[in-house]
Amino acid sequence: MKILNIFPLTLAQDTIILDEIEKKKLIEEIKSMKGLNHISKESNYAWTGDTKGHEFLFSNNLFKNLASKISQSIIKYLSLLEINTNLLDIYYQRSWATLTENKQSINFHTHSQSNISFAYYLLKPEDSGGIIFRSNDLQNEVAKNIFTNSKLEKSLITKPNAYNSDKSVFDLKEDSIIIFPSKTPHATTPNNSGSLRISISGDITLMLKDSSGFEHLMPNFTSWTKF
Ligand SMILES: [Fe+2]
Repeated sequence: MKILNIFPLTLAQDTIILDEIEKKKLIEEIKSMKGLNHISKESNYAWTGDTKGHEFLFSNNLFKNLASKISQSIIKYLSLLEINTNLLDIYYQRSWATLTENKQSINFHTHSQSNISFAYYLLKPEDSGGIIFRSNDLQNEVAKNIFTNSKLEKSLITKPNAYNSDKSVFDLKEDSIIIFPSKTPHATTPNNSGSLRISISGDITLMLKDSSGFEHLMPNFTSWTKF
């Protein structure tokens, strides 16, 4: 029997190699950001720069080269979706570092204020935690909640696979980037490496250069009227 898969969620994975000296500089810069906000009590949750006053990482000159390499990957992702980037102004609206120490993780969340998001793994030891994506709207769910874990435990679902799972984990290598629609719920699995993991994330806004004749997608902010 032939299988026809339609309406997929498409993520893109790419590799961005920085030279070792540059990488060390970025790691030190990020560690010093956390240093300023250091809280002595241990937390189960990773340190995320976006909520600690460090949400514009790419405004820092040290990160310009990485930002431009990430931009190239984002353009490739948009091309994959056949989105015509010639008609768009594309912005990093936020960009930040996440430091995950041993046993820390991040709960499920979305970045609902933007269009596209990414995670780039600057420092990622073995077993330091993957990223999990979750679907709230399973196309193949022929009966309500038929693909939940309990149905698997009761052997109603014999084996999880890409057609019947509401979650998927990717444990990518250092220097990888994963790009996804911002509305996709995601979380991280705990860091079990005993070492620090550092990722860089960002939220991207797509804006029409000229919104004339378009109903959807954000009109260019240069034409907005401020209160
Ligand atoms: Fe996130």
